[in-house]
Amino acid sequence: MGDKWLVCSAWPYAHGIPHLGNIIGSILSADVAARYLRLKGCEVVFVSGSDEHGTPIEVEAIKRGIRPKELTDEIHSRMKKLFDRWNISFDNYSRTENPVHIKFVQEFYMDLYERGYIFEDEMLLPFCPKCNRFLPDRFVHGTCPYCGFEDARGDQCDKCGRLLTPTMLINPRCSICGSKPIIKKTKHWFFDLPKLSNDIEKYILENSNLPENARNMSLQVIRDGLKPRSITRDNKWGIPAPFPGAEGKTIYVWMEAVLGYISATIEYFSKKGEKDRWKEFWLNPETKSVYFIGKDNIPFHTIIFPALLIASSRNYNLPWTVASTEYLLYEGQKFSKSRRIGIWIDEALELLPTDIWRFTLVALRPEVRDTSFRWSELLNVINKMLNDDIGNFIYRTLSFIYTRMDGVVPERHEMDEIDKRTVDEIASMYRRITEYMDEFRIRLALHEVAGLARLGNRYLNEREPWNTIKTDWERTCTTMNIAFSIARSVAIMLLPFIPSSAEELLRQMNYNVNDISWSMAKDLVPGGHRINKPKVVFKKLTEKDVEKLLKKLDEIRGSSRS
Ligand code: MF3
Ligand code: ZN
Repeated sequence: MGDKWLVCSAWPYAHGIPHLGNIIGSILSADVAARYLRLKGCEVVFVSGSDEHGTPIEVEAIKRGIRPKELTDEIHSRMKKLFDRWNISFDNYSRTENPVHIKFVQEFYMDLYERGYIFEDEMLLPFCPKCNRFLPDRFVHGTCPYCGFEDARGDQCDKCGRLLTPTMLINPRCSICGSKPIIKKTKHWFFDLPKLSNDIEKYILENSNLPENARNMSLQVIRDGLKPRSITRDNKWGIPAPFPGAEGKTIYVWMEAVLGYISATIEYFSKKGEKDRWKEFWLNPETKSVYFIGKDNIPFHTIIFPALLIASSRNYNLPWTVASTEYLLYEGQKFSKSRRIGIWIDEALELLPTDIWRFTLVALRPEVRDTSFRWSELLNVINKMLNDDIGNFIYRTLSFIYTRMDGVVPERHEMDEIDKRTVDEIASMYRRITEYMDEFRIRLALHEVAGLARLGNRYLNEREPWNTIKTDWERTCTTMNIAFSIARSVAIMLLPFIPSSAEELLRQMNYNVNDISWSMAKDLVPGGHRINKPKVVFKKLTEKDVEKLLKKLDEIRGSSRS
């Protein structure tokens, strides 16, 4: 209680609108966590922003015949609006072209330079004679020297996730024209990662909050041997490198975007007129932080980012934990814009309400293995979990109280074994759900919330208040008090997941969400509380509905094709 938390979500690239896999891998999951922590009474700062630099954005802008900044201006403002419609409760959604960020990054790197963590060196880089340019990062593809994957990029292997440098690739080829590059000498600035190897290893070994998969992958990367990372690029689009002699070069996108977590916090508080308060979130070791990222982002958050922070002259908090996801597939296949496989977050909201997507995506969140979004799964999750388990239980409880008990939650009288067992189960489910939430295993938590509603349904079926009310008023009062308490717990614990629907449920129960805290979900409700007229909140979907939605999707795509 009262803890400070920094909730961070990976910054989406500003070269296109995110798809369902992108949003559940980072922003939507982070939003659930931020809402949960606020509900627990923590002071939360939730930041992210548009990742605007880097070669794919330059390439996309060239394709559209506009300047990169025009492209990112447009995409940034579209994404910002979409995240509002997805009900993402950012405290600050910033961007890497923001002057606060640019200034912060340049000062940060000058500090590292002065402390001897940055050196200048000649390096060998693939150079494409046909395109007449050097090929850093994504400009070169080839075979991964570790795992043999044939389509690895110059900065990272998509298959095994390892960090690479362009000359490590076997059989390299230019990503633009496909020709075999020659190797040429060029001058760049490097971050001395090997110098920090012991510190990073210590951080990972000592940080027991990091999940198993992130720890293992990071230790593997360290054991492979850390190499200096070049931090400058010859690209024009990016943040100008501040080092003496580096005029005309820019900073490698990853090496500056991760610093956005800090600059966005600084910007947030300075806009609020509390200039120094960002320090409470970055320099006070009591403050915890969590980073929601896809699995390919792990080494940047557990190795490179902590290394940068350790190298600086300030005692920044290192990531307390990361919550990474595997990949979401679409009906068994990789999302692909060009092949139109998948659904993008703008289209999704034309088809179904925000909360339906939020609920489905969290229920299918790829926490341990790659998982497919399937329409059949959506039907299953919405019809069974959300309607049969949750919606139906809450509605039958509220309408019984409203129509048969004058709309007032009754007192509990004597509790028998079944009541006591049920009350114990509420308590233990509350504890389990809280534990899952604290570990950011939000998919498991949501399934468990539906399980609590199922418990409520079973309890009502067992107690048959519609029969007992004819003969035993006190018995019925006890039953309905316990049923209402379960319904309220479920509604409270749904707040982080489906905020507007949960708020509506609580309104029907006659609560103001501002008076609600997470821990109230473990309590039995005292009798005498008046409720409002209940209404059905959720609707089932049929296979016919899905067919119609898919048709509509085609229409939307047809009309926006230009
Ligand atoms: N844009 C990157 C991606 O989508 C994530 C950047 S995260 C940050 O993979 F750390 F750089 F912010
Ligand atoms: Zn590999």
